Amino acid sequence: MKSFPLIQLTFLSALMLIVGCGGSSDNAGGDGDAPVIAFVQTGADNDWRNAHTVSVKEAAADKGYDLRFAEGQSKQENQIKAFSSFVNQGVDAIILAPIVETGWDNVLEKAKKRNIPVVILDRKVNTDDESLYVTYIGADTYTEGKKAGKWLAEKMGGQAKVVELQGNPGASPTINRFNGFREAIADQSGIEIIASQSGEFRRSKGKEVMEAFLKKYGDEIDAVYAHNDDMAIGAIQAIEDAGMKPAEDIVIVSVDGVRAAFEAMVDGKLNCTVECNPLQGPLAMEAVEKILSGQADQLDKVTLIEDSVFEMEQAADVIESRKY
Ligand code: AHR
Repeated sequence: MKSFPLIQLTFLSALMLIVGCGGSSDNAGGDGDAPVIAFVQTGADNDWRNAHTVSVKEAAADKGYDLRFAEGQSKQENQIKAFSSFVNQGVDAIILAPIVETGWDNVLEKAKKRNIPVVILDRKVNTDDESLYVTYIGADTYTEGKKAGKWLAEKMGGQAKVVELQGNPGASPTINRFNGFREAIADQSGIEIIASQSGEFRRSKGKEVMEAFLKKYGDEIDAVYAHNDDMAIGAIQAIEDAGMKPAEDIVIVSVDGVRAAFEAMVDGKLNCTVECNPLQGPLAMEAVEKILSGQADQLDKVTLIEDSVFEMEQAADVIESRKY
């Protein structure tokens, strides 16, 4: 029997944990007839991401596809390994939600050489060769940043010292929400961003960074702009721990529109959330269906999903209709 050093076994176990193989297909070496679709997700680090994963899995099941799922545990290297492994398995199509924008060309080229079509979902890739993927589907995250900036400038009457909780560095929603917000406040000389740091799109990290902001700036802070709801909820906890009232002493605007954000708005602790709809599975699977039936040329290269803005005052009326 072949023996593996402990370090190798640990790596193999980790890979088996993150790459879930469900079902089979002729192409991918299985014994079923259903097309085998692989989905490489970023991770499972917040409510939005989990709703996104469920949406893709349910939409694949609705189409009768055999879905193979892997999540990168928030690391690009894990996503690249999983992606390569799916290419080697010869799946029929791969859906990739890339954690960061850059560094994908090699694996995308590998998929192209094997004639495996790739759909980019949720976050963008930055590549000079757009033929490496068939289509991109995701939210208009630049406009989300603009909507948050516009809402905040109006709410604050054009005067505020703002702290910003960014998403993970290098991710397209982080870059776009950062730039979109700045575009919206460009003509507002009274709106000043006094601190900006990554909270990695996580609740615990959002709390930690907000604690540090409060320590440094105290009641100088008028408003928080969080790139997602989970970090805003972490910030709310930090504000309460510091003996202040979130949404009253410090105005808070974030992005996503997850249920926990609506609950916080109903409780009077969050002022506004700009929706970013994670229910992207059906659009992704419609694209896959077109590709597999030879109609890829009917797909737009980019499909951007438009979202709404929800304020605290509306929250109680709409919370029951929220699907994630
Ligand atoms: O890419 C979309 C963003 O990623 C969501 O706003 C965030 O919650 C997630 O991690």
